[in-house]
Amino acid sequence: MAAKNITKYTPGFNIHDVKKKFDIKKVVKLSSNENPFISDRVTKYINNNKHSLNLYPESKPSKLQSIIAKNIGFKMNEKNIILGNGSNEILEFIARLTLNGSTEAIIPKHSFLVYEIISKLQDARVIVSKPDLNKNSINYLGIDLDSVRNKVSSKTKLIFLANPANPTGTYIKLAEIDRFLSSLPQKITVIIDEAYYEYLDPKKDKSAISLIKKYNNLFVTRSFSKIYGLASLRIGYGISSEKNIEKLKLYKQPFNTNLFAQKAAEIAINDHHFVNESKKNNDIALADLISLFDKLSIRYLGTYCNFITFEAGKSSEALFEHLLKKGVVVRPLINYKLPKYLRVSLGTRREMNVFKKHLKSFYNAKV
Ligand SMILES: Cc1ncc(COP(=O)(O)O)c(C=O)c1O
Repeated sequence: MAAKNITKYTPGFNIHDVKKKFDIKKVVKLSSNENPFISDRVTKYINNNKHSLNLYPESKPSKLQSIIAKNIGFKMNEKNIILGNGSNEILEFIARLTLNGSTEAIIPKHSFLVYEIISKLQDARVIVSKPDLNKNSINYLGIDLDSVRNKVSSKTKLIFLANPANPTGTYIKLAEIDRFLSSLPQKITVIIDEAYYEYLDPKKDKSAISLIKKYNNLFVTRSFSKIYGLASLRIGYGISSEKNIEKLKLYKQPFNTNLFAQKAAEIAINDHHFVNESKKNNDIALADLISLFDKLSIRYLGTYCNFITFEAGKSSEALFEHLLKKGVVVRPLINYKLPKYLRVSLGTRREMNVFKKHLKSFYNAKV
């Protein structure tokens, strides 16, 4: 039995295993919401420089923190920022700071699975709020803030909200988040996980970072794994008041982010051309896939990220297997309590064409 009744996180299939199992040469991996592109400037840095691999990396990469602060705006400075081995690590630090065996964490249904795992590792009780069940809303199956509010008890110490959310792809307006935060006791810490924030359109005034000076109990997390294309290097960051960040740093190992991650993050965040191209590619792939889903009368959830979660109904498992045999890996969502849905990440034009071809062949569609 797994310790503490925790279901282990299952990552998307890895390319090597699929190649071997089905004896396929080319695999299209659309299961982990990665950016299909890498910044040329990052590649050049990795390939063309001498790296001091024998030395520890910067323990306090203040240059990167300053660059991030400048980039995110809202009068943040380097002391408002903590770097993590992926934003995952920041989520973990916050759970460790706030939760223990006599506390509760509220997690909206269909949330990123890591929230539950790290809360249970702290022995906290996990309270699951209801999703938005309005079928006519673009927030369908996304976060219902009223339900979250109703779950608050004297034991609540932490609330996780992803905005936009994975795997539902839904987004809640900042004014609603603001209203929600103003209704909460300050002793409850709230995380707004903005791993997919950069895919919002337009981004301006949509980030909860703008609320950090107003709410002392607020943490925002961001990732370099998505639009910045650095998933493999593992780097992300958390933003909060200087005092909160100081507290969180107690949990950070001295060298939690490595040299390549730090340097590549510096380069990628300033490579505006790359970020714009990534966003453009995502927008095109998104519009194109929505158009196909509409033609095939396939229902899909929120469309604010670099993936789409779509309804495959009873055929969900069969469609997953069909795609897998053709070398296309998407994500089944049984662990997320969405067994009738599959999630597909938005890849390159070629990758999307392969996915669309096999999706159409499954449904015998001639569109
Ligand atoms: C909602 C959400 N938060 C956080 C993460 C973790 O990202 P990172 O790679 O920065 O640890 C993911 C990764 O898929 C995610 O979907």
